[in-house]
Amino acid sequence: MVAWRKIDKLKLAGNDESERMLIGPVAMVLLSLASCSCRCYTSFRRGDPCTSNWTGVLCWDDLGDDGYLHVRELLLLNKNLSGTLAPELGQLSHLKTLDFMWNELTGSIPKEIGYISTLRLLLLNGNKLSGSLPDELGFLSTLKRFQIDENNISGQIPKTFANLSSVRHLHFNNNSLSGQIPPELSQLPTLLHILFDNNNLSGYLPQEFSNLPDLRILQLDNNNFNGSQIPASYANFSKIAKLSLRNCSLHGAVPDLSRIPSLSYLDLSQNHLTGPIPSNKLSDNMTTIDLSDNQLNGSIPGSFSDLPSLQTLSLENNFLKGPVPTNIWQNISFSTSARLELDFRNNSFSSIQGPLNPPKNVTLRLEGNPVCKNANLLNISLFCGAESGEDKMVANINSSTEICRIQSCPTDNFYEYVPASPVPCSCAAPIRIGYRLKSPSFSYFPPYIRPFELYVTSSLNLSLYQLSIDTYAWEEGPRLRMYLKLFPSVNSSTFDDSEVKRIRGIFTSWTFPGSDLFGPYELLNFTLLGPYADINFENKSKGISKGIFIAAVVGSISCAVALSVIVTVIITRRRARNQRAISRRRLSSRASMTIDGVKDFTFKEMALATDNFNSSTQVGRGGYGKVYKGTLTDKTIVAIKRAEEGSLQGQKEFLTEIKLLSRLHHRNLVSLVGYCDEEGEQMLVYEFMPNGTLRDWLSAKAKGSLPFGMRLSIALGSAKGILYLHTEANPPVFHRDIKASNILLDSKLNAKVADFGLSRLAPALEGEGTVPDHVSTVVRGTPGYLDPEYFLTHKLTDKSDVYSLGVVFLELLTGMQPISHGKNIVREVKMGHESGMMFSIIDSRMGSYPSECIERFITLALDCCHDKPEKRPSMLDVVRQLEFILKMMPETDSDSLHSSNGKSLSSSSSYSTRDPYVSSSNVSGSDLVSGVIPSITPR
Ligand SMILES: *[C@@H]1O[C@H](CO)[C@@H](O)[C@H](O)[C@H]1NC(C)=O
Ligand SMILES: *[C@@H]1O[C@H](CO)[C@@H](O)[C@H](O)[C@H]1NC(C)=O
Ligand SMILES: *[C@@H]1O[C@H](CO)[C@@H](O)[C@H](O)[C@H]1NC(C)=O
Ligand SMILES: *[C@@H]1O[C@H](CO)[C@@H](O)[C@H](O)[C@H]1NC(C)=O
Ligand SMILES: *[C@@H]1O[C@H](CO)[C@@H](O)[C@H](O)[C@H]1NC(C)=O
Ligand SMILES: *[C@@H]1O[C@H](CO)[C@@H](O)[C@H](O)[C@H]1NC(C)=O
Repeated sequence: MVAWRKIDKLKLAGNDESERMLIGPVAMVLLSLASCSCRCYTSFRRGDPCTSNWTGVLCWDDLGDDGYLHVRELLLLNKNLSGTLAPELGQLSHLKTLDFMWNELTGSIPKEIGYISTLRLLLLNGNKLSGSLPDELGFLSTLKRFQIDENNISGQIPKTFANLSSVRHLHFNNNSLSGQIPPELSQLPTLLHILFDNNNLSGYLPQEFSNLPDLRILQLDNNNFNGSQIPASYANFSKIAKLSLRNCSLHGAVPDLSRIPSLSYLDLSQNHLTGPIPSNKLSDNMTTIDLSDNQLNGSIPGSFSDLPSLQTLSLENNFLKGPVPTNIWQNISFSTSARLELDFRNNSFSSIQGPLNPPKNVTLRLEGNPVCKNANLLNISLFCGAESGEDKMVANINSSTEICRIQSCPTDNFYEYVPASPVPCSCAAPIRIGYRLKSPSFSYFPPYIRPFELYVTSSLNLSLYQLSIDTYAWEEGPRLRMYLKLFPSVNSSTFDDSEVKRIRGIFTSWTFPGSDLFGPYELLNFTLLGPYADINFENKSKGISKGIFIAAVVGSISCAVALSVIVTVIITRRRARNQRAISRRRLSSRASMTIDGVKDFTFKEMALATDNFNSSTQVGRGGYGKVYKGTLTDKTIVAIKRAEEGSLQGQKEFLTEIKLLSRLHHRNLVSLVGYCDEEGEQMLVYEFMPNGTLRDWLSAKAKGSLPFGMRLSIALGSAKGILYLHTEANPPVFHRDIKASNILLDSKLNAKVADFGLSRLAPALEGEGTVPDHVSTVVRGTPGYLDPEYFLTHKLTDKSDVYSLGVVFLELLTGMQPISHGKNIVREVKMGHESGMMFSIIDSRMGSYPSECIERFITLALDCCHDKPEKRPSMLDVVRQLEFILKMMPETDSDSLHSSNGKSLSSSSSYSTRDPYVSSSNVSGSDLVSGVIPSITPR
């Protein structure tokens, strides 16, 4: 009988203990048990194994031509699978991706795979496959990527491969392929990369390859084309970037490759090439020329002195003679951290042409040349020593995170500092990726690190700071192995599941744009630890395939050969998963932050405080959701902001707000008491501001009005709070959304700045002048308050906050809204001021005021709202000027709070030592709090 049968014990297919722990409970399924092979086919015909939830099997139903679900992808990268590939794989008639990279598979590639006419990616590299390549694989007319490198495959490359009319990548290196490379491959219209190096290929180099219209890389190193020559036609390659024919037993001359505009890497070393080096100038893009270990004669062509990107020129162990031209390095445009290695050892160079004073960036090796015996040459011994020079060490380019020690990331190894984060010392859980450039077109990485980072992040649609190259090291090939870490965007400590899937999908589907410089890449591993360990990749279409399938296909020696497709399955238990997901969420929000002095409330506590979020306790409503007045069990009154489903602020903002607020303490900032992150709820708990927002006080409906002196004090308090954010908060913070409704008034009418939900940390001022003085972000904030410059350039500076605060000042002066009836407050006040009509628009509700003070306040407010950021005062200037204006205010006057019934009220200002607003009436401060004000405060 044929069946997908579960067995309870994991017997095979990798999954050592640790891996199993990561991916959850595992069960095993045996496909096609015992008896017969024929019925296996029957079983497949009734639809692919899509009814179960298998690890690594992705089914989707977009092409339901026969009414069955079909397996579209087998993604079994790096699962330590052993066994053989079953011929039954050929039954997966809708398969697009067959990915068994980096496993332990043995046996040969079944010819049946050639019948999967839909196959696009055939990825079998990094196994122990043997046998020869079946002719049938040539039927794969939609195949784009054919990777069998690093196996033990032998025999010839079938001529039928000339029918792979869509193929772009033939990666067959590091096998035991032999015989002639079929010249017919030159008919492949879309071929980009031929990597056949490290095989036993022989015969001749097909001259027709120069006809391949798109070929970028031809890499055939370490084969044996005994005695044949490099075809002269290779001078006609139109797009090739890399030609690597090292150690191929080639004879004859070095072809003139000067007409190839894109050539950047040429390795013809370790052959038997003779004659001179062609003198015509090679492409400006040359980074690497390796002609070492041949029998070349003649001298170094002058054109080598005109290659601006050159990194490596290896001419050692030839018969070259004449002078060593020193202008080779003199014409190089070293970009930062560039270098040039010149290896001229063991030739017959007899003199130096020009001054022998190469910069530090240049390594020149001359030992084994007659010139080394020229004692007259100053310095010559420096270049004739036999020092080692080679440094192919593992490089770690991460700058140290020393400065972040004050705040420590959770120590569970899943969270790390984001090295390049615009928010200094932020912790997040990276996705870790083993990555290797298979055939780069350069030989020294540093100058290309930044371009590489840009290439990867733009291909993944991430920001530059989200990528960190943890380490890199050169390996045989040469290949460049790297360990990449991708971090979630700022404000978040983890990626969403969907984001992880998206990123993984880009890596595993090779949808990176091609790059001549970086060449093809290998995905060595895609490691999902910690918060990502549970992510389920199989949910491509609704309702199917939740688990993951780890398939290993094992050839049984006994009995029927077809007996044996053994598949291990991970059964994800839904409940267990959900529980894990919740605890993960809690862990991630807790673990990723060390929040001192901020309480983590339970949902229950919040419900209790607000009488189950009774509408009578609701005191406000923002973009974020409703705001409730709550009473905690210890009788503290708090404001609880409860995020709504689909509220504009997501979890990212939520976490930012907590992180930010918990670190900020100033008497002019609303302080955070705690938060609640439970049961899918997000709440922020603040100290309660009984006097509501400044906007409420300025609105036409307000029952009380603020006297001028009070308005000045509120202006000063707000400015001080923001000044603290700009200069004393560590790291500095730009508020980004200063507005009258974000300035709250406490029981004594002290101003407190609220709502850092849109805040971004300002760039660290790290001594170095290179730190940008702005943060580019998407424009956010509130219309009417937005710095016009910020709107245009998306550049956020401290002066953007100055602008917004200036608008608030204008509101204090006029009582107007920033934008009302199509009028902009800044323009209105400016016009009024210029025409001398200012006093007509000043809020009549604020009583009497010294005109000199108000004139200064208007000037200050308008300066803050200058179009040009550099013309605006700094926040420190704002504070100083306000203090000055307050000092000018008469000691006592009729400044007092006018209630709607005409009764004069007053209040003390806690930050003013002089305090001109001491109550002159018989209404006390406590009356203000408990009696009059609540009736004035809306809602
Ligand atoms: C791979 O599987 C083999 C058994 O098949 C086991 O001995 C080995 O430890 C595993 N290696 C890893 C890295 O999981
Ligand atoms: C696969 O997962 C889906 C969605 O969770 C579930 O409805 C279905 O029953 C699962 N199928 C099997 C065979 O476990
Ligand atoms: C390929 O083969 C060469 C020669 O045997 C070896 O030096 C190199 O390490 C191999 N490369 C890989 C990636 O296995
Ligand atoms: C030379 O290299 C640069 C940068 O990598 C690239 O933009 C340009 O297209 C290359 N030129 C040619 C002719 O390939
Ligand atoms: C290479 O030289 C340039 C200019 O001479 C210099 O700016 C750069 O730092 C040097 N790079 C190294 C790695 O020494
Ligand atoms: C993934 O690959 C990187 C780079 O080769 C390596 O350092 C790391 O150990 C690998 N991780 C796993 C889990 O295999």
